[in-house]
Amino acid sequence: MVAPNHIAFIMDGNGRWARKRGMPRSAGHKAGFEHIPEVLEACHDLGVQVVSAYAWSTENWGRAKVEVDYIVRSLERHLLRFVKELHRRGVRFFHSGSRDNLTERSLKVLDEAVKMTANNGPEIFNLAFNYGGRAELAHVASEMVSEGVRPEAISEAAVDERLWTAGLPDVDLVFRTGGDRRVSNFMLWQSAYACIYVAEAYWPDVSREDIEAGIRYYDQVMGK
Ligand code: FPP
Repeated sequence: MVAPNHIAFIMDGNGRWARKRGMPRSAGHKAGFEHIPEVLEACHDLGVQVVSAYAWSTENWGRAKVEVDYIVRSLERHLLRFVKELHRRGVRFFHSGSRDNLTERSLKVLDEAVKMTANNGPEIFNLAFNYGGRAELAHVASEMVSEGVRPEAISEAAVDERLWTAGLPDVDLVFRTGGDRRVSNFMLWQSAYACIYVAEAYWPDVSREDIEAGIRYYDQVMGK
């Protein structure tokens, strides 16, 4: 079986996971955050080198203040503990997303996490936080204009190197949890040739078996 080199997870269903248990949405996000290491370990065991996870989109700032505050606080308070564990396992941490609208403390922990793990690899965990595929492409265009890039110098490689994911390989498998069949503005450029798999399980419930099923599906689709 051929494993995808890069899986990009759309971690959906935290809210429904919590509602099913009569808990607030924040409890779903907490469970979702705590579930990432297990999924990551399963992916790396199964031969996947790069794992991206869509934690917060450029559109998610429009959610209720209590939810926004909870996510920002979780990042500020718990990211470094989470990344220290990745570091112990030799995993490199990456952040993809806009730096606009992030608190100073969020930027500090994200930068510190990137720096701490910079010499790790080949396994990579890429946290898409304050990420949006359209915003990313607009950012690339704006950067090119401000750098005075000549029209004839604009190529796919020139776009690639200005993406928020610059340095990461293309996505092979987009894996969405929670049952919805939508792309949700995630890695639009990077997943141009990706296979898409949707698991019914809510993110905090995603199991190793679900991941294996996604990888088997990828193997079938790409082997055709
Ligand atoms: C979508 O599910 C999930 C999110 C918008 C947030 C995902 C965040 C995490 C897994 C935690 C990561 C946190 C940090 C700080 C890195 P939803 O809650 O909208 O689900 P629903 O569709 O069931 O309501």
